Amino acid sequence: MRHLIDPADFTLEETLRLMDLADRIHDDPAAYRNVAERKRLASLFYEPSTRTRLSFEAAMYNLGGQVLGFPDGGVSSAAKGETVADTIRIISFYADIAAIRHPKEGAALRAARFSGIPVINAGDGGHSHPTQTLLDMMTIRRRTGRLTDLTVGFCGDLKFGRTVHSLIRELARCEGIKFVLISPEELRVPDYIIEEELQARNLPFVEVRTMEEVLPELDILYMTRVQRERFFNEEDYVRLKNTYVLTKEKLALAKPTMSVLHPLPRVNEIALEVDDDPRAAYFEQAENGVYMRMALIMTLLGLKDPKTGEVAFEC
Ligand code: NCD
Repeated sequence: MRHLIDPADFTLEETLRLMDLADRIHDDPAAYRNVAERKRLASLFYEPSTRTRLSFEAAMYNLGGQVLGFPDGGVSSAAKGETVADTIRIISFYADIAAIRHPKEGAALRAARFSGIPVINAGDGGHSHPTQTLLDMMTIRRRTGRLTDLTVGFCGDLKFGRTVHSLIRELARCEGIKFVLISPEELRVPDYIIEEELQARNLPFVEVRTMEEVLPELDILYMTRVQRERFFNEEDYVRLKNTYVLTKEKLALAKPTMSVLHPLPRVNEIALEVDDDPRAAYFEQAENGVYMRMALIMTLLGLKDPKTGEVAFEC
């Protein structure tokens, strides 16, 4: 049995196979509507979510499966003090696979240790968000036709943004990626990620304070929200929240082929006027997320692709 807690739980080769399956689903979703009949997904969300939770649930329904769970830790026994370990032991009797989001770093890993069913990390605190990474990768590949030789800018809250941490980890395994890290000093990518992923592999990266100085060279601009809920005090949040706002005027500096990604929710870091620009890829990302999660659920459950008669890879 395999789990997805961190992007590195799958090899790059496995990740690419998963993406190929997601692309096939994207092109013909109706062919997959009975693949997970009588299978159940437990959707365990201890932290707010719109896209991640609903796209996991939509993915399971699209595969003909069923969903049970809770959208908020306050309505589960967590509110009475039950541990994640106990909860997942019980859920293993009720469902075939679980997606878990939790405010504490490491909660999904702990759940996996006690689980009788595959566990998918749907975001653990400021740490990791591997399914967002899969759909980010899928979107980059669909947009640019490749996952190599790209200059990728990450902008905003690179300290607390778990989607940034996971995507850096994944892209660090691809060839020819140049990392451009755009953040205020206080919201820099944590040192452990820079050291373990970028410096240890001798990958090219720069850290800058403004987006204007790097926009012309980027193939991908990954915008993020300042993660208010992970700040220690409100004054710091208020001071930093509007550091970067992507407007049409700034976008004029970028290549016509650049894509703007954002995991969403957006607060005000991308002006609404940017939505109509063909470079805006963030709504497409959310759509791709459903296909990607369908592919992931199928693969962790060992369900064959009806089109090829094979699983994406053995779990
Ligand atoms: C992200 C998350 O939860 O980390 N959202 C998402 O899953 N699409 C990003 C965020 O909350 O800013």
